[in-house]
Amino acid sequence: MRLARQATIKLLFVAGSAIYVVACSNEEDASRSDSTTMGAFAVSSHPLGPIPPDDSLARPKAMNQVGVPMVLTRSLLPKDNPQTPEKVALGERLFFDGRLSANGTVACASCHDPRLAFTDGRPVSVGFANRIGQRNAPTVLNALYNKTQFWDGRAPTLEQQAGLPIVNPVEMGQQTLDAAVAHVAAIAEYRAMFRRVFGRPPNGPDLLRALASYERSQLSFDSPFDHYVAGDSSAIDASAKRGWVLFNTRGRCNLCHAVSDTTKWPTTFTDDTFHNIGVGIVRHRVVALARQAERLVKRGDTIAVDRAAILSPMSALGRYLVTRKDSDMASFKTPDLRNVLVTAPYFHDGSHATLWDVMDHYNKGAGTQNPFLDADIQPLALRETEIDDLVAMMASLTSPAYKALGIRELARQRQLSRTSRPQRDSARAFGPKPVQPKPPAP
Ligand code: HEC
Ligand code: HEC
Repeated sequence: MRLARQATIKLLFVAGSAIYVVACSNEEDASRSDSTTMGAFAVSSHPLGPIPPDDSLARPKAMNQVGVPMVLTRSLLPKDNPQTPEKVALGERLFFDGRLSANGTVACASCHDPRLAFTDGRPVSVGFANRIGQRNAPTVLNALYNKTQFWDGRAPTLEQQAGLPIVNPVEMGQQTLDAAVAHVAAIAEYRAMFRRVFGRPPNGPDLLRALASYERSQLSFDSPFDHYVAGDSSAIDASAKRGWVLFNTRGRCNLCHAVSDTTKWPTTFTDDTFHNIGVGIVRHRVVALARQAERLVKRGDTIAVDRAAILSPMSALGRYLVTRKDSDMASFKTPDLRNVLVTAPYFHDGSHATLWDVMDHYNKGAGTQNPFLDADIQPLALRETEIDDLVAMMASLTSPAYKALGIRELARQRQLSRTSRPQRDSARAFGPKPVQPKPPAP
């Protein structure tokens, strides 16, 4: 059912121990317009499917793929949670096990499906009881390289990240992490596996360690682009090569999706910091939301921030929810671009359907009056063929496991972009850099 534009819905959410009812204005948005509000939560009319299979796409990946930064990778494996094959196997089991959720239906893999490069293909995720969240599910591939986890970096490690969806009411719906542990501890096979791996019965911290170890086994390199950088000049076509030049010059992509500081070897295409690039900024009145956050979300309370980010309109505040600094207003983490072709739709709110839409966004310099816009975002004056080249470059970052999916996806996105370019604004793209308004006085 389509919600009327500007309809006011009431959203109940729980921050810390207090329960709040937040009135929010739900403006037109493809990602949320297919939802109905049932009880306190928005519920999707496209219900969650069965848990994806734990098949060959889910297996731990080899270290010796072309492009893997070996020294960096080894340095990122934590000393207090060493990788062992048994631990990774336990983590893999848990990642696909719906019994971690309150009613047995939602696993990590429900939203991080290996067949979709560990995403769910939805604009925003749907979880426990088909409740709808506010954010797009990022891939778990190469998540070990992220300096922080989540779009707003609210979790410093994979271990700490893994605890949050389990207790989020729209994700896995448990009251506490221990409730999930109790489900696991009731199963003899798990008791034996925990004993073998950790030398003790199932418990929360070990469960999170196993999940994180599994995620650290998900390296995804060996793309045509990696082969190109390694010296095979025929690995990518002329269009992708032109795209790579644009990426580092007039496209300005390298300003944030940087190659590593210490080597010319591109690793994960992110500066590991947060920027306001103007996604969703009009839709939400961020200053009003920031005032709301001051009242309702306790600073430094990670559970409260997690709930605000996943199930309230304050989600649009991004990094600000974590740091409360004006300079972080509506800013989000620069994501890795590996396998980006096969992880549509795009941005923290899934608001852009194709890589052409993403390019239109950047080409018009975000295109909105936005006092918090990153100074590095400006109109790019890229011609249509140059946009195609940048898309080809991004498509060349697809790992071999997703080659067939990538071919289908590129054709699908190209087809869609021929009839639908909702973000295109040529006047802005070829116009001068606009002067942005000053932030409103506090
Ligand atoms: C209902 C869907 C859903 C479930 C279930 C779910 N996730 Fe996620 N996951 C998401 C969404 C949405 C985000 C982004 C949220 C945000 O940034 O605020 C995310 C973010 C992440 C990230 C951060 C990646 C990055 O690039 O920052 C990791 C890692 C992750 N999830 C792993 C897990 C694990 C492990 C589990 C199981 C314990 C799990 N997820 C369960 C939807 C889900
Ligand atoms: C000022 C820093 C900055 C610049 C410059 C920049 N990006 Fe980004 N990029 C980001 C941030 C931050 C996000 C996440 C924004 C959000 O979701 O709100 C992002 C998201 C993306 C995404 C979506 C990925 C996903 O998984 O949803 C793609 C694709 C992308 N950028 C490609 C590019 C390309 C191509 C260029 C050059 C034309 C570029 N970026 C320039 C910072 C930047």
